[in-house]
Amino acid sequence: MTEAIRVVVTGAAGQIAYSLLYMIARGEVFGKDQPLILHLLDIPPMAGVLEGVVMELADCALPLLQEVIPTTDPKVAFKDVSAAFLVGAMPRKEGMERKDLLSANVKIFKVQGQALNEFAKKDVKVLVVGNPANTNALVCANYAPSIPKENFSAMTRLDQNRATSQIAAKLGVPIAAVSNIIIWGNHSSTQYPDAGQGKVFINDVWKSVTEVLNDTSFLQGPFIDIVQKRGAAVIASRKMSSAMSAAKSACDHMHDWWNGTAPGKFVSMGVFSDGSYGTPKDVVFSFPVEIKNKQWKIVQGLTIDGFSKSKLDITGNELREERDEALSVLESN
Ligand code: NAD
Ligand code: LMR
Repeated sequence: MTEAIRVVVTGAAGQIAYSLLYMIARGEVFGKDQPLILHLLDIPPMAGVLEGVVMELADCALPLLQEVIPTTDPKVAFKDVSAAFLVGAMPRKEGMERKDLLSANVKIFKVQGQALNEFAKKDVKVLVVGNPANTNALVCANYAPSIPKENFSAMTRLDQNRATSQIAAKLGVPIAAVSNIIIWGNHSSTQYPDAGQGKVFINDVWKSVTEVLNDTSFLQGPFIDIVQKRGAAVIASRKMSSAMSAAKSACDHMHDWWNGTAPGKFVSMGVFSDGSYGTPKDVVFSFPVEIKNKQWKIVQGLTIDGFSKSKLDITGNELREERDEALSVLESN
């Protein structure tokens, strides 16, 4: 029988984790024949709630789930893990921008980077969901120098899923008929959702989204706006930030990292920028990536027109500012 892998979920008593844990434990990320030991980390005031989550996981009677380890100690949480979903952080409330969360949340990612560095497997795959996700991933990686930087990523898959869903609805096609929609930059209102490389499966062939839709004013206007503001729209409506869709997207992200992408298809992930497409280096920037053998590679050679270039600059500048702000918060602590 395949040996179990250890997977940690932080913020395990929170609302995203409540959906995420079930999906992971059912085998939707690491495979239906991969046994799992789940490590659940939260803070001491949430220990009681965490116990309830553990009871529910037991009551799901999931065949792949060998053991559940609830803890409030990062040393225990990160010990020997092969994959980490870093969800635990304060969520944005109505009227807040992600920047407002920065000073509270980057400190958490310093501590968790240090714990990953010391206790996790060196090939651990780390997905940061907690906001501001890109800058938290950067901080986390900086405090884990013994783990390759390529092993840290931030989630923009929710934005990709939102964008794909908007395009499918506009074209009146099933979601699976749309592919290669890109999210560039930060998981924030400056992100650039780009359908310029998108493909749609119509009449048994893949065609270009822009050619089939032939509506530049939509693609450069409402489409971008809706996706950039979708998180805020969900908060305004639910009075809580997105959770079910965030959990599904976290599973999609880690699933593709673990299992690879199909030939010709790419997905968006926040990864360390190497300066591709004129973006700033040393920030965690969302790019289109292809994945093979658990290694991502930024898709090269895509055409970037003047409109796209200006959008990449805006979100790149915001990431630079966030990075500098995060560093000053960490230096003053
Ligand atoms: P939540 O408040 O329901 O849960 C967060 C949990 O994290 C809480 O149980 C809290 O106690 C815990 N926590 C706080 N500090 C911690 C620490 N140091 N170690 C471990 N656990 C800790 O929030 P949620 O709705 O689950 O959202 C979690 C985060 O995900 C927020 O930052 C939110 O903004 C972000 N988010 C990101 C995306 C994305 O697309 N990247 C999407 C949705 C939400
Ligand atoms: C989202 O995009 O739904 C989350 O990042 C929550 C938020 O603050 O927008």
